[in-house]
Amino acid sequence: MNNLRPVGVIGTGKYVPEKILTNSDLEKMVDTNDEWIVSRTGIKERHIAAPDQATSDLAYEAAMKALESAGMTGSDLDLIIVATITPDSAFPSTACILQDKLGAKGAAAFDLSAACSGFVYGLATATSFIQSGMYNNALVIGADCLSRITDYTDRNTCVLFGDGAGAVVIGEVPEGRGFKSFDLGAEGAGGGLLQLEGGGSRLPASAETVENKKHYIYMNGREVFKFAVRVMGTATDEVLRKAALERTDVDLFVPHQANIRIIQSAMQRLELPEEKVVVNVDKYANTSAASIPLALVEAAEEGRMKAGDTILMVGFGGGLTWGASVLVW
Ligand SMILES: CC(C)(COP(=O)(O)OP(=O)(O)OC[C@H]1O[C@@H](n2cnc3c(N)ncnc32)[C@H](O)[C@@H]1OP(=O)(O)O)[C@@H](O)C(=O)NCCC(=O)NCCS
Repeated sequence: MNNLRPVGVIGTGKYVPEKILTNSDLEKMVDTNDEWIVSRTGIKERHIAAPDQATSDLAYEAAMKALESAGMTGSDLDLIIVATITPDSAFPSTACILQDKLGAKGAAAFDLSAACSGFVYGLATATSFIQSGMYNNALVIGADCLSRITDYTDRNTCVLFGDGAGAVVIGEVPEGRGFKSFDLGAEGAGGGLLQLEGGGSRLPASAETVENKKHYIYMNGREVFKFAVRVMGTATDEVLRKAALERTDVDLFVPHQANIRIIQSAMQRLELPEEKVVVNVDKYANTSAASIPLALVEAAEEGRMKAGDTILMVGFGGGLTWGASVLVW
């Protein structure tokens, strides 16, 4: 990517809904306890969208902040990508709903489905468009309302997820900065390990699909755990190799926030000290596509990166998919 127009982050924003669901709240809903949840996942609480909030509403709040921090308005955008697995509806896309709300007249807009890897997939897609000269300023958002597809009678899954949105504006940056490499991948054969079966063309919504809980997340936690630990390591090594960098060159590691044990195993494998790793899974749980941008934006807001720092983002999720990127801040 070295000879191409340098593209990087020029604005950031995040949003989480007001309502907080704590582990002790969940203790009243299913047979679980704070000790189990914290020791197995590191999660203490998660934010839950209000009944009248949909994914585009969360995305809008994050987008407005990102535009403001870039010193832009919607009319400066020529591309909007919303990474989500919980769009407002099957169509129009959540990105189109947002394009209208933001006044981004004429901007191209589409949703991208790569589950928890979606934000990194979105960054790679938008970067390619900008590097090719087709567009100049893109808004990339990871936003999900997983509470809408979570079965709050299933203790195996309901403790793990939350709602939120993170957004970045990307565009041309000074030479030497910006995205240095991407590593995207998929293992479709493992798709059945983490899925929502109902409501699509294979299994359209019916009284039977509702009865059989086919509109909720199904997950084989143990197998997804093994996949996650494996690809966090391989994707990180691969994206560093593509950027011609060493592990020791990483200033800040921004992993997908699914489970503290997965993050810790990646830290150990990559020999990264705690202060170089962003962790906020305790506050937000797994917010799918919003997870990496929420962590990235929060770290930026806390002043954890300075110009020229090397940031490594890596995520994994349904598909199965993974995505990693090296970004010079
Ligand atoms: C889900 C996960 C936390 C479960 O942890 P685990 O250590 O693998 O736990 P197990 O699946 O072995 O379950 C152990 C026991 O705890 C029970 N359990 C599950 N959820 C529980 C909960 N919320 N509270 C109390 N007990 C629970 C199980 O029923 C099981 O009981 P059993 O042995 O009597 O059957 C873990 O597998 C995980 O994080 N997987 C990856 C999930 C993920 O990241 N998904 C998103 C990808 S983007």
